[in-house]
Amino acid sequence: MIHTGRHFLQIPGPTNVPDRVLRAMDRPVIDHRGPEFAVLSLEVLTGMQTIFQTKSPVIIFPSSGTGGCEAALVNTLSPGDPVLIFETGAFSQVWKRIAEALGLRVEYVPGNWRRGARPADLESRLAADSSHAFKAVVVVHNETSTGAVSRIAELRRTMNRLRHPALLIVDAISSLGAMEYRHDEWEVDVTVCGSQKGLMVPPGLSFNAISEKALAANKKASLRRAYWDWEPMLNNNREGLFPYTPATNLLFALREALHMLEEEGLPNVFRRHRRHGEATRAAARAWNLEIVCEDPEEYSSAMTAVFTPEGHNADALRKVILEHFDMSLGAGLGKFAGKVFRIGHLGSFNDLMLAGTLSGVEMGLRLAGVPHDDGGVMAALDILAPPGSNALSPSIVSP
Ligand SMILES: Cc1ncc(COP(=O)(O)O)c(C=O)c1O
Repeated sequence: MIHTGRHFLQIPGPTNVPDRVLRAMDRPVIDHRGPEFAVLSLEVLTGMQTIFQTKSPVIIFPSSGTGGCEAALVNTLSPGDPVLIFETGAFSQVWKRIAEALGLRVEYVPGNWRRGARPADLESRLAADSSHAFKAVVVVHNETSTGAVSRIAELRRTMNRLRHPALLIVDAISSLGAMEYRHDEWEVDVTVCGSQKGLMVPPGLSFNAISEKALAANKKASLRRAYWDWEPMLNNNREGLFPYTPATNLLFALREALHMLEEEGLPNVFRRHRRHGEATRAAARAWNLEIVCEDPEEYSSAMTAVFTPEGHNADALRKVILEHFDMSLGAGLGKFAGKVFRIGHLGSFNDLMLAGTLSGVEMGLRLAGVPHDDGGVMAALDILAPPGSNALSPSIVSP
């Protein structure tokens, strides 16, 4: 089938890269040991501190997000250290796999893949750990396979109340730049991120935001590391350099994306994502399809995962939508394969893109013969432009 117009990339990352960002990286590579590069890298390292809401150092690796996860563990822990990982979905499984491969002792706190990490589960595990055996608690902030968010501030309060010294390691790969995230205020020790989601940059960069406590743990941590070692990174970064060849043009892209986020203002960025999440869920409810996240307090603003009705394969629906409307939706992952489709509404995105996305889903539901009610798109439009609202009314136009 020949497609005209542009492809709709509505997976929950990689996300659409704005033209401004593409143009910023479309330039000759520069000497990564020269003065121009140092200016670039110091600017993006500082810019990322603003996005993480931290005054502590941020490290940028040339890698996908998974590399950032491995870096967080090898830099803070030692062989055989017990770690608590919360089962929230497919990406918590990634953490479990990495931690076990590194020789850490994982206690995997079971979850039903429809909720974030429960503070009560953390409380019971840590309260029973009077010898402070657990060295780290690992939580995925926005579980990209389910659209359920873990409440990091509450989890940290639980750790503090119990005076448990474990490090708090958070995967914010699909939330940073899309949802409220406060590395310092929430006392997170290592936050991991990737470039390809809320940050609107192509895949290929990962990030570690680090606390003082994590830096102290780094001095004692004896897991083997070379490429991922923070120490040479931090030493080189002070001068705007890297210990090996950085992904220069992705850093040009990141600089432009950071400018865009700054121009919009982070509170507006988060508000935009919340609104689009709300409109998407309104559509799903009107279609009479079940949203995977079952706790309204934990809904993701970055993406929405939706079950197809029993007996209707979500991948068949995605295939129809791709073929007919040239739109990519996220597949169900792990135990949700074939049962769930995921709508990404994060990154470089606006109301009309969302209306187009939801229209593609609604038409796809019809063409694929998936039982549903009509009216999802209208329900979403009612959130985006509520009936009776009037943009020309003086109260809205005047400041
Ligand atoms: C929450 C989360 N963690 C980890 C990863 C793995 O990141 P990457 O695929 O960039 O290695 C992803 C990727 O989608 C993710 O969404």
